Amino acid sequence: MRVIAIVNQKGGCGKTTTAANLAGCLARDGARVLVVDLDPQAHATLALGIDPEDLDENLYEVLADPGGAGRLREVCIEHAENLLVAPSGIVLSALEQRLAAEPVESRTDRLSAALDQLNGEFDYVLIDCPPNVGMLTFNALRAAREVIVPLETSFFAIHGVQKLLETIALLTERIGHDLAVRILPTLYDGRTRYARQTLAQIREMFKDMCFDTVIRQNVKLREAASRGKPINAVSRTAHGTIDYNALAVEVAASGLEQPAVAPTEALEGSREVVVRFRDSAANDVRIAGDFNGWVPDRGVRSLIEAEGQTRVWTKILSLPPGTYEYRYVVDGEWREDPDNPEAVSSAVGGRNSLLVVR
Ligand SMILES: Nc1ncnc2c1ncn2[C@@H]1O[C@H](COP(=O)(O)OP(=O)(O)OP(=O)(O)O)[C@@H](O)[C@H]1O
Ligand SMILES: [Mg+2]
Repeated sequence: MRVIAIVNQKGGCGKTTTAANLAGCLARDGARVLVVDLDPQAHATLALGIDPEDLDENLYEVLADPGGAGRLREVCIEHAENLLVAPSGIVLSALEQRLAAEPVESRTDRLSAALDQLNGEFDYVLIDCPPNVGMLTFNALRAAREVIVPLETSFFAIHGVQKLLETIALLTERIGHDLAVRILPTLYDGRTRYARQTLAQIREMFKDMCFDTVIRQNVKLREAASRGKPINAVSRTAHGTIDYNALAVEVAASGLEQPAVAPTEALEGSREVVVRFRDSAANDVRIAGDFNGWVPDRGVRSLIEAEGQTRVWTKILSLPPGTYEYRYVVDGEWREDPDNPEAVSSAVGGRNSLLVVR
């Protein structure tokens, strides 16, 4: 059972559209799919034709009390053959606060425990997350091994996604397992040069982390949602159907089970490269670059030492020969390496330092 969380704290980037339509396409290909709607707005529930107000019970019953895990299957509703929904409702907005008051160990793995009770009945569980990284999203990340980050093809969206990747990297330590994170460009309007350039920047920044599939803007996706159906049940030829079918094929084939960014140690012909950052005020220094998918400190060994008042962060990377772009993330702020004169303009503004491994 592959559990995939669809996450981005930015609203309106296509999380719900991706959950409902990827589910529709995977199910049409014969996979058994469960959509878990973790957003109190209940848009995924609505997009799959279920009115949350008609329901007596929803995910709240499963997640609110520590013994609710076994009730997940009861609250699921069948949308079509092979495609079920664990519905949301506005009451889920109260869950965030309720969980916050409970002990850490039991509040973060409610969804994970509930999915364990399904005994592998599904091939895919797609979790539609709300537009914030609160207790519900944390539950989703705890339950998932894979993450899809829909990214609107716009300049400002790229900025926000770096922060999100950093947050996910920080959470990974608390989650206790690795997450394979993939970026899905959405809302793409290929007629504008701006969108084409932005897509090129996204591909350059995220390389293998980025799906080959791009979801184009397509008004039929909105229409399908308002009719409560995945787009492939409405049109065979719409761009939305073609794109989400392509995504389904890519997800099924891509072995997302493996972390998309392999630990750098694993790369063949790698050399050990050491870089150092010195500062007397910083508390937390990480390194992010195209070698680790811009996820701060992913696949990097770190040492911290003191030289008088100054602290020295040593970052040990294992990289095959090539040229790499990177920045330090100093207390959450992305900075050029002050000791490295070699730098290039970055796709999202500012400059990235350059590292050449021979
Ligand atoms: N590729 C697309 N083409 C056209 N419209 C789209 C596309 N993707 C999403 N939309 C529309 O954009 C709006 C926002 O999409 P969606 O609800 O999927 O985003 P979201 O990330 O789930 O938002 P939220 O953060 O509020 O949950 C919806 O009206 C949806 O129908
Ligand atoms: Mg949504």
